[in-house]
Amino acid sequence: MKIITVIGARPQFIKAAAVSNKLRQNHEEILIHTGQHYDSNMSDIFFEELEIPKPNYNLKIGSGNHGYQTGNMLISLEEIYLKEKPDMVLVYGDTNSTLAGALVASKLLIPVSHVEAGLRSFNKNMPEEQNRILTDHLSKYLFVPSETAVNNLKAEGISEGVYNTGDVMFDAINLFKNKAETKSSILDLLNIDKKHYILSTIHRAENTNDINRLSNIIEALNSSDENIILPLHPRTKKFIKDYNLHLSDRIKIIDPVGYLDMIKLMNNSKKIVTDSGGIQKEAYFLEVPCITMRDETEWVETVNNGWNTLVGCDKEKIKNSILNFNPTTEPINVFGNGNAADIISEIIS
Ligand code: UD1
Ligand code: UDP
Repeated sequence: MKIITVIGARPQFIKAAAVSNKLRQNHEEILIHTGQHYDSNMSDIFFEELEIPKPNYNLKIGSGNHGYQTGNMLISLEEIYLKEKPDMVLVYGDTNSTLAGALVASKLLIPVSHVEAGLRSFNKNMPEEQNRILTDHLSKYLFVPSETAVNNLKAEGISEGVYNTGDVMFDAINLFKNKAETKSSILDLLNIDKKHYILSTIHRAENTNDINRLSNIIEALNSSDENIILPLHPRTKKFIKDYNLHLSDRIKIIDPVGYLDMIKLMNNSKKIVTDSGGIQKEAYFLEVPCITMRDETEWVETVNNGWNTLVGCDKEKIKNSILNFNPTTEPINVFGNGNAADIISEIIS
């Protein structure tokens, strides 16, 4: 079978790293990079480190408003689909690249496979929630990471073509964890000791585009006595500058890092404070307490099982959780067995 895979943003490179090699054992894969992320530390580094095949096409769409970005992807993807005539299009997650990849395929009556289907935050103000809902409703095969996702789809009337495969990010972390521990020298480079720092990431539009939310978050981090490592997404870097926010000396801002350095940083941190979707799960897989600076999460299992706490952008809650949030239970395995890529590839075959 000829399968077109569309990826474009950092977390999608990591998910594709787990799935692509398996797919290619039995199928021809044409990889399209939309160019949504393009800085070398947001894109190239993942292809190199994780040995993701070089994309057959890079659309180089770049940044812009949602309409500009998604619209340009639609135009370019349609041309390629018409030329390549794939049997299936595979998309991951919930970005603008996901929706564009699925929408063009659906209009051309090419079956769509969606990896990481069925997630819901139930907050339709999030661009990701809009992308997820639309993509799921356009998809023929919905590969979901958990039972919660199966039920979310059922509630929207989707039960055909739904496969609970487990989470491909569980595959990814298992694939690269040992390599990260042995190869990454990021702790030495930053001169930090294991379990003596907090790792934080911030990039969610709802937190960065709102000066009050971002100021609260930065003030909460500033008030902590812990050393904080903050690999900064370019979106957030821009807003911190625009809003003229000051960060304390205890916060070490670094450029975004590759996946191996990121695993090493996560695995050895005392706690993680984030608004990322993927990192909430990775914290869970690595058994690191996670403090999530959002009002809701798609990854409810991590909260229900006691390893993740939702603190929104509330200064006091963030501060208190950094001090006091300590899980008391063993994490339960709710995201499959780390062989999601195998299962997805088998079902597609
Ligand atoms: C996108 C996804 C989000 C995902 C995140 C992963 C959408 C709507 N959002 O958000 O779901 O969690 O990726 O990281 O698809 N920028 C650069 N260099 C880059 C990439 C981005 O400087 O290589 C800057 C630009 O100023 C750009 C901004 O970051 O405007 C936002 O980038 P964009 O891809 O639009 O959204 P993300 O916040 O990265
Ligand atoms: N990540 C990374 N380097 C960084 C920050 C994140 O490799 O500097 C990884 C992280 O471990 C996870 C993925 O990128 O696998 C999550 O991406 P992000 O938080 O940008 O997006 P989300 O998951 O929220 O969509």
